Amino acid sequence: MDIDDAKRLAGIEAAKFIKNGMNVGLGTGSTVKHTVIELGRRVKEDGLEIVGVPTSLATEKLAQEVGIPLIELSDVERLDIVIDGADEYDPNFQLIKGGGAALLREKIVAQQSLAMVVVADDRKQVETLGAFPLPIEVTNFAYLSTVRALSNLLKCSVKIRMEGNKPLITDNGNLIADAETGPIISNPIELENEILHVAGVVQVGLFNNMCDAVVLAGSNGVSTHFRTNGRLSS
Ligand code: A5P
Repeated sequence: MDIDDAKRLAGIEAAKFIKNGMNVGLGTGSTVKHTVIELGRRVKEDGLEIVGVPTSLATEKLAQEVGIPLIELSDVERLDIVIDGADEYDPNFQLIKGGGAALLREKIVAQQSLAMVVVADDRKQVETLGAFPLPIEVTNFAYLSTVRALSNLLKCSVKIRMEGNKPLITDNGNLIADAETGPIISNPIELENEILHVAGVVQVGLFNNMCDAVVLAGSNGVSTHFRTNGRLSS
């Protein structure tokens, strides 16, 4: 199975978590886009009744194209579930996210959701987080100063993400700093807190104690793994 088939199968399998009447967080990325497309198909063909909250402008556009009714997160108390991709996940289901620069909205949506399902191919499964450069959303104001502060804190190279020859601007008008820590993030909870203490940091792409299940696609097919004592484990 090639990687695109794996992503598609995982995305479609994860859509099975979604039932009639749910408020659903719609993640961002090349894997979860297949979930969004599948949910749109079920809305059209099976009469599935859901409302969605997209985690990025790109997902908003896709959801509209496939016919998923959307609401503002501010208009609901809670979402039943969010389905999203990840750049890495460790044995404790802690995540690195933000490879698609959508981490701030993704984290706000995940925080307001009663459960989180991640869709991933098996390249994302790691023993220790950090081989994937850790995305950190930072303000435009004094961003080079924030980058220096982060580099001193993390003792590694931190680079502003570029789009062509200009810094990439997020959906929220901020920038992304990618920290090349290497695979050494053994205490992601402590690291998240340390990074959030740096003024200029808007949010960090460490998603701790949020993910309840991973729908994983690999050469052996698709399998679903539940976090012990997570919100979806029976
Ligand atoms: C978006 O900012 C990210 O958090 C994505 O969810 C993550 O990068 C996974 O994307 P892919 O499914 O495209 O690998």
